[in-house]
Amino acid sequence: MSIVSSTSGLVGSSPQSEKKSSLLKASRLDEEVLCSKDDGLRPKRLSDYIGQSELKQVLGIAVKAAIGRGDALDHVLLYGPPGVGKTTMALVLAEELQVQSRITSAPALERPRDIVGLLVNLKPREILFIDEIHRLPRVAEELLYPAMEDRRLDLTLGKGSTARTRTLDLPPFTLIGATTRAGALSSPLRDRFGLIHRLDFYDLNDLQAIVHRTSSLLDLSITSEGCKEIAGRCRGTPRIANRLLRRVRDFAAVRGGASSIDACLVDEALNLHQVDSRGLDASDRRFLSLLLMSHGGGPVGIETLAASLGEDSSTLETVIEPFLLQIGFIQRTSRGRVITTSGRNHLEKI
Ligand code: ADE
Repeated sequence: MSIVSSTSGLVGSSPQSEKKSSLLKASRLDEEVLCSKDDGLRPKRLSDYIGQSELKQVLGIAVKAAIGRGDALDHVLLYGPPGVGKTTMALVLAEELQVQSRITSAPALERPRDIVGLLVNLKPREILFIDEIHRLPRVAEELLYPAMEDRRLDLTLGKGSTARTRTLDLPPFTLIGATTRAGALSSPLRDRFGLIHRLDFYDLNDLQAIVHRTSSLLDLSITSEGCKEIAGRCRGTPRIANRLLRRVRDFAAVRGGASSIDACLVDEALNLHQVDSRGLDASDRRFLSLLLMSHGGGPVGIETLAASLGEDSSTLETVIEPFLLQIGFIQRTSRGRVITTSGRNHLEKI
C-alpha cells in the first residue's frame, strides 16, 4: 500500500489555511503535517492500532465484508478532536484493503478540477481521504454527491450557451472524511457516509501502551512508570504522547547517565517544556487564567475570550476546549464559558 498526496499538499498545508492560522494553530498544524509523513511509528494494521475498540470492531467487520464481496468499503466519516488517530485509521483501512490511498485536505480543493483530478484517477476500491472535510468548498461538495452515491461524475464543459454536460462513470471507491467538527457538515454530505464514527480521547492504559509501543520502535529504554507519566500528561491524545516522548528522549540523551528513562526524568523533561501534571500547556493555562482572573470565572462568551487571546474562536473550540471540558475544568453554558472548581484548584496549585 502506498500513499499519494494531492497536488496541494498534505493535511492543513494549503497557503490559505497557513495565512489564517495564528501562532498556536500554526505550531499544532506543523505538528500534524510532520506526523502525516510516514515516520514508521504509525500502526499499519487494525491489530496494531491501540484503543478505539468499538470503532476497530465495526470497521473490521465492514472491511471483511467488503473484501468478501470484492467491493469497495462503504464511505466512512471519522470525527473527533485533533490527534486522536483519524488519519492513521484511514491509512490502516487502506492497508487492510490492500489498496492505495490518496490523501488531501478540503481547503486544497478550491477549483473543480482539484476534486475532478482526484476522482478520475481513482482505481477500483481505492481510498480518497479528505481531511477537514467540513471545510469542503461548495463546488467540490456538489461534485461529490453523485460521485459518492452513484459513482458518477457530472461535468460541465465550456461556458455560456456552448456549455455541455458530460457524465463519467467512476470505479467503486471509498471516501474517508475526517473532521473535528461533524456538526459543521451539511446534512446531504453527512447522509452519504455509510459509516459515521467518533474517535474519542484515549484512556490512561491505552496511552501507556502507545508510549510503550513507540518507545520500542524508537529503541528507547523507558520504565513502565515513565510511560505512565507521559500517558498522564498528553491530554488523552496519542499524537501528543509521541511528541512528548521525543522531547523526553532529547532531554535524556543530552542529560546522559540514565540507563533507562524513569518517571522522575520524564517529570523534569516535561516541566522544562511547561507541560504540567495534567498535560496542560501554556496556551491552556492562559485560557483558564483569562477566564478566572479577567472574567471572575465566567460566564464569558467564546468570542470575547478569543479576542483577548488573539486566537480565532474555532481554534479555541476545536483545539483548547475539548480537553478542558473532558477533564471537567470548564463548562459550556448558554451564557458562555465557566471555570469549574477543579479548574480553579488546578490553577491555584501551579
Ligand atoms: N501511535 C499513535 N496512535 C496509535 C494507536 N492508536 N495505536 C498504536 N500506535 C499509535
